[in-house]
Amino acid sequence: MKIAILPGDGIGTEIVAEAVKVLNVLDLKFETETALVGGAAYEAHGHPLPESTLKLAKESDAILFGAVGDWKYDKLDRPLRPEQAILGLRKNLGLFANFRPAICYEQLVGASSLKPELIAGLDILIIRELTGDIYFGQPRGRRTAVDGHFPGAEEAFDTMRYSRPEVERIAHVAFQAARKRSKRVTSVDKANVLETFQFWKDIMIEVGQQYPDVELDHMYVDNAAMQLVKAPKKFDVVVTGNMFGDILSDEAAMLTGSIGMLPSASLNSSNQGLYEPSHGSAPDIAGKGIANPLATILSAAMMLRFSLNQAEAADRIESAVQSVLAAGLRTVDIYSEGTTKVSTREMGDAVVAAITKTTIKG
Ligand code: IPM
Ligand code: MG
Repeated sequence: MKIAILPGDGIGTEIVAEAVKVLNVLDLKFETETALVGGAAYEAHGHPLPESTLKLAKESDAILFGAVGDWKYDKLDRPLRPEQAILGLRKNLGLFANFRPAICYEQLVGASSLKPELIAGLDILIIRELTGDIYFGQPRGRRTAVDGHFPGAEEAFDTMRYSRPEVERIAHVAFQAARKRSKRVTSVDKANVLETFQFWKDIMIEVGQQYPDVELDHMYVDNAAMQLVKAPKKFDVVVTGNMFGDILSDEAAMLTGSIGMLPSASLNSSNQGLYEPSHGSAPDIAGKGIANPLATILSAAMMLRFSLNQAEAADRIESAVQSVLAAGLRTVDIYSEGTTKVSTREMGDAVVAAITKTTIKG
């Protein structure tokens, strides 16, 4: 087993270091290799996703990714910006299925901006299609308009598109995930306006016929955004396109009040995966030792479960995280009165200690 470690920018290096520490106490056999990505790679090699990093990612079974981005790169040409690294990895590795769970941890109910009764026990899985849609659709660019409201004016355009196999494969991922949960899928679209999403909806219904045991319903994206804050617990598995999934997954993550807790996985058809926290690089707090490493540690657990076939080790990480929360340890983002404020490193150490304790016992 080979794991590519790509810490990236901002708090990426600090949080990934804690996750690696956790992986190392599990007594598993794997090889790791670290490489630069994002702004860090641009500084060193002039490109956010250098050939060598891409090669390492391709030949690894899994990638543990921190975060990329910093405002200081906003003025670079788009192909050189840090975000292109993550988009390039998704595209080059075909990582089309993005799993973004939004789980409200019992001890953190108070961290949400919603009323506790709305989110206590929340456990949603957003499945976002990740390699199609308006993110990657060609053509795109700038030109002089030949029609529209202002012919002759400068204009910019992107293309929203999905092919049948792209929608079919993400539909199967969603229905199969639902089978392992409460057997309900909500497909989010904009079929009332967009041809692409009428097509999406038709295919969801078609594929759904192969899963008669799973209940499928459909929701327009604007309504879904509203229902997510009104009655989030009504959702279980949500499947949607790349653009809507980007937006709804941030909304769902924030419901829990602790985006610093949420892992994610992006898989291709051979189960090779990239695992990263749902939050970004947070350059404003980088280097201060206060970032929450738990989303990255939980991403490492997802990696063990999905790509490395080590479900038991994944369970051990997840219970260790539960126990440090139960013990009242909190990084500043999830701190509340009566709990103990700890640094990034102390949080990582506490998870390690919780794991080694269960090892000795077990
Ligand atoms: C995400 C991020 C990325 C996206 C950016 C960094 C390109 O927002 O993973 O949700 O838009 O997909
Ligand atoms: Mg996003």
